[in-house]
Formats: sequence, structure tokens, C-alpha cells
Amino acid sequence: MGYEITTTIEKEKCIGCGKCVAVCPYDAIELIDSKAVVTGKKSMHCGQCAAVCAQQAVTVDDLVVPTLQGELNAVTSQLFDTVMHRRSCRNYKKDELTRTEFENLITFGQWAPSGTNAQKWKFTVIPNRSSVEAYADAIGRFYKKLNRQAENPALRLYAKLFLKDALGKYYRRYYRQVQESLTAWEVEKKDLLFHGATGAIIVSMSPGAFCAHDDALLASQNICLGAHAMGIGSCLIGFAVEAMKRDNRIAQVIGIPEAETVYAVIALGRPKYQYPNPSGRLPVPPRYFTR
Ligand SMILES: Cc1cc2nc3c(=O)[nH]c(=O)nc-3n(C[C@H](O)[C@H](O)[C@H](O)COP(=O)(O)O)c2cc1C
Repeated sequence: MGYEITTTIEKEKCIGCGKCVAVCPYDAIELIDSKAVVTGKKSMHCGQCAAVCAQQAVTVDDLVVPTLQGELNAVTSQLFDTVMHRRSCRNYKKDELTRTEFENLITFGQWAPSGTNAQKWKFTVIPNRSSVEAYADAIGRFYKKLNRQAENPALRLYAKLFLKDALGKYYRRYYRQVQESLTAWEVEKKDLLFHGATGAIIVSMSPGAFCAHDDALLASQNICLGAHAMGIGSCLIGFAVEAMKRDNRIAQVIGIPEAETVYAVIALGRPKYQYPNPSGRLPVPPRYFTR
């Protein structure tokens, strides 16, 4: 999984604060003799390491920093700043969000567009760390069972013949990463699923929405941007969504009715680190159609 790593760190600029080590989702950077050193072979090219470094010691080749062109009014500049500086947060402080903050985030979500204006979204709040942990336990039980199945060569062969190799694909792509996360959770209570978030919002849809997936993800992006504007860290957790799609007992644990479908899980909390720089994106030249 991941791209070949293209991260470089200028040793002279590095002050050994360790923030790039903490934010890297691939654990590709280590502190050696109080200097950050790239030791991993793979990366997600998310640029979090470069974004968090106040010394600007880190660069990730292949990433560019897209900016707007021409003259910008204040509203555009402010909106762009919010969009550009939102980061997936994977390090949280221990203090929890208030009910008002959760409800303001949901208001951001509600202002999203929805196909045929269906507005069938539902927002389930996980308001504190102990509730996040109970939720994570339920998801952990699902992945433990899935990993036991994936370990079994006979089941993988069956899945190859009759289920489009679904279990084999999972085994090759995710098994090891999930196993490491389960062990970290069980042995050290290290939370590689929700990254120590103190809250979450789950976006589900009641039946009847024509574009349910699109509506839910647009609401989710509004919540993530609103969170950033409010100084709150957020991170979409696809691993939680996948588990909930396959095991409806998880939804039962947190009180989501069976008729609803979960499309997004957003981890939330107060961010431990600020990101002074934009992280960059892979370049994408526009394509034009003219006639
Ligand atoms: C649909 C979706 C699912 C994601 N699932 C996870 C996840 O399970 N765990 C995680 O740490 N990050 C997850 N992310 C965050 C991405 O890794 C992140 O958006 C990407 O690396 C870009 O970084 P940025 O959000 O800081 O710009 C997910 C993002 C999306 C859009």
C-alpha cells in the first residue's frame, strides 16, 4: 500500500520537535539523535509532515501547493484558507467538545446540497472519549473476526471462486495493517482507528434519498470544513464505515436504526498540533472540452 516515499528533511533546519513523526500516518519518520529522519519506504503523499513543520524543514516531492489566481476578495481568500488548511487530524488533546460545538457542526452538515433536496441525513453524536472507546471496541470485534476468516486459506479460496476474491483482496491489502491496529488497541490501548479522538459524528441516511451517498459525503465535508473553521480537528474514518456496512450489530450498539445506512464516520476533537503550512496536492492539469 502507499506510494514510494519522496519525503526529504533538511537536517540543519530540523529542531527535533518530533511533530512530523507524530502526524505521519505511515510511521515513515523517526527521531534519531534528536533529528527527524525518513526511515520508511512508503508514504501516503499526504504532506502532513511538511504542513506541520514550523521550520519548513520537510518537503515531499511530487506535491505542489495549488493556489487561486487573479484578484481575490476577502471572502474568497478566507474560504480558500479554510479549505486549504483543513487537515485530517490524527493527534488530539484530551479535552472533549461541547454539545453546542457538536450541534453547530451538524448545522454545517445540514447546509449541504442534497439530490432532489431530500435531506434524509441523520447525525449520530458520539460525545466523549469513553463512548468513542465503546464504539471502537464494537468495530474491533468485527475486524478481529474478519482477520480470523482472512487467515484461513480455505475461506480465501472459496472467496476467490465465488466472491470475486473479496477475502483475498482484503488479506493482501489490509490484513497486516488491521492486525497491527488490533494488537496496539488490545495490548497498549493505542487507538489507530480513531487516533484518540474525543468525539465523532456518524452520518447516516434514512431510506428514500435518491443520491444518498453523495448527500452524506457533502454533509460530511461541510462538517469537516466547519470543524476546521471552529478550531476543531476532524478525520473521516473509512475503516469504521466499512465495518458498519458489513455488520449491523455495530449500528445497534450506538443506537442507529436498522433502516438507516451509514456513509461517513467523522472523528473529532481538539487538535494537538497546528499546521502552519499547506500540505500540497498531486498536480492535476485541467481538461477542457471546447467546440
Ligand atoms: C472516504 C475517506 C476515508 C478515509 N478514511 C480514513 C481512515 O480510516 N483513517 C484515517 O486516518 N484517515 C482516513 N481518511 C483521511 C485521508 O487519509 C486524508 O483525507 C488524505 O490523506 C489527505 O489528507 P488531508 O485530509 O489531511 O488533506 C479518509 C478520507 C476519506 C476521504
